[in-house]
Amino acid sequence: MPQQTSRRAFLGQTLVGATTAGALISAPLAAARVVGANDRIRIGIIGAGARGQEDLKAAIAVPNVECVAMADVYTRRHDEVRQFVPKVEAYTDYRKLLDRKDIDAVIVATPLHLHAPHFLATLAAGKDLYSEKTMTWSIPEAVKCRDGARNSDRVIQIGLQHESSGSLTDTKRWIDSGWVGKVTEVESWMSRNTPHGKGQWVRPVPGDCNPEHVDWALFLENRPKSEFDGNKFINWRLFWEFSGGNTTENMIHQIAWIISALDLDLPSAASMMGGIWSEKDGRQVPDTISVTLEYPEKIVCWQSTFSNSRFGLGERILGSDGTVEHVSGSTDMVSGRSREETRYWAEKANRPSGDSAVSETPDQNHMANFFDCVRSRKQPNAPVEIGYKSAIAVLMSNIAYREQSRITLQEAMAYEPKYS
Ligand SMILES: NC(=O)c1ccc[n+]([C@@H]2O[C@H](COP(=O)([O-])OP(=O)(O)OC[C@H]3O[C@@H](n4cnc5c(N)ncnc54)[C@H](O)[C@@H]3O)[C@@H](O)[C@H]2O)c1
Repeated sequence: MPQQTSRRAFLGQTLVGATTAGALISAPLAAARVVGANDRIRIGIIGAGARGQEDLKAAIAVPNVECVAMADVYTRRHDEVRQFVPKVEAYTDYRKLLDRKDIDAVIVATPLHLHAPHFLATLAAGKDLYSEKTMTWSIPEAVKCRDGARNSDRVIQIGLQHESSGSLTDTKRWIDSGWVGKVTEVESWMSRNTPHGKGQWVRPVPGDCNPEHVDWALFLENRPKSEFDGNKFINWRLFWEFSGGNTTENMIHQIAWIISALDLDLPSAASMMGGIWSEKDGRQVPDTISVTLEYPEKIVCWQSTFSNSRFGLGERILGSDGTVEHVSGSTDMVSGRSREETRYWAEKANRPSGDSAVSETPDQNHMANFFDCVRSRKQPNAPVEIGYKSAIAVLMSNIAYREQSRITLQEAMAYEPKYS
């Protein structure tokens, strides 16, 4: 089919662009079989660390989904996954997994710098894809993955699970009904704390984390060669070369929710201040952050700290006719209890007879939504477009921080990513 040939050729090109010399590329395979409504879906996972194992457990809990293969550069993960998928075929090299013709869909839960090559290779192999957030490490990669997805008929879900939340469904309904009015400002925040001396995210390096058990060259895939470093391998989140810090780890969920609620496109500009002030533990990414994103006739602010957790996380949409507040893990002032809720209050100036409301729509299972779409070929709740828009917003913020300057969208799109 001419259309398929050109799509695969395109994916091959984008994959070349997403990797550097030295990275091998899987040859595109025939597209996976058509999965019938009652057929068993066979999956593989690339990157079965902490999140990957959670995703995998969520996937195999969905009826008629079976994990047949995994790929991870660290043999410890093979043993961990065998504990709950005893017959899994374990590979070190993900290209061997993608070469298998009996796999319908792939979960990608590798460190951020590997999302783009694994995303594009999965599409080129003709598999449906569940790819963890943030969609990509850099803006050029986000463009390549978005374009690759637009030229593919594969089902793609990004691991932005709050896109499947009842709070988003109800918030959109309140906004669409005109209850919120003109929104010029959105406030959002996310806060955590750790015991003194123990930095957020820092994980111990296991004794077997050494070149005998880790394929370091494959971990570096699209990065300059360097000596094995167990701390960087385990604590990749702390280093710019592999991570985007807390904007790509946590802000991404909240900005995606805000973008979807308000139907926003890309920010016209971003600024970001902050620093490494909670724990001086060798990390490069800031622990304290204040972001301002400019959208047409509105600003969206996001703040975060790793030195206080009292108010958890939340978003407040401030409209001329009403307010929406979603909070999670924040401490109730009166009872002291942790709570998660989404509420609406009318602005009496413009909706004098308007009532308040509480979100009651239950969350959908984000992973089950993916497999429903693998069968129906419909668009999942967190498609590539929201993966793209949210990635651009957080990656622009990081550029503003690193350049210590307000960055426009045009500047961000032309920006050459820095590895360190
Ligand atoms: N959606 C969510 O709420 C959520 C929550 C946590 C993490 N995440 C995302 O999941 C991803 C993984 O995070 P994590 O905490 O599980 O990290 P992790 O370090 O625990 O796991 C990453 C795994 O990838 C493996 N890996 C590294 N290079 C590889 C390669 N080339 N091929 C195959 N495997 C390779 C590592 O050995 C490790 O097992 C990140 O992108 C993170 O942002 C999402």
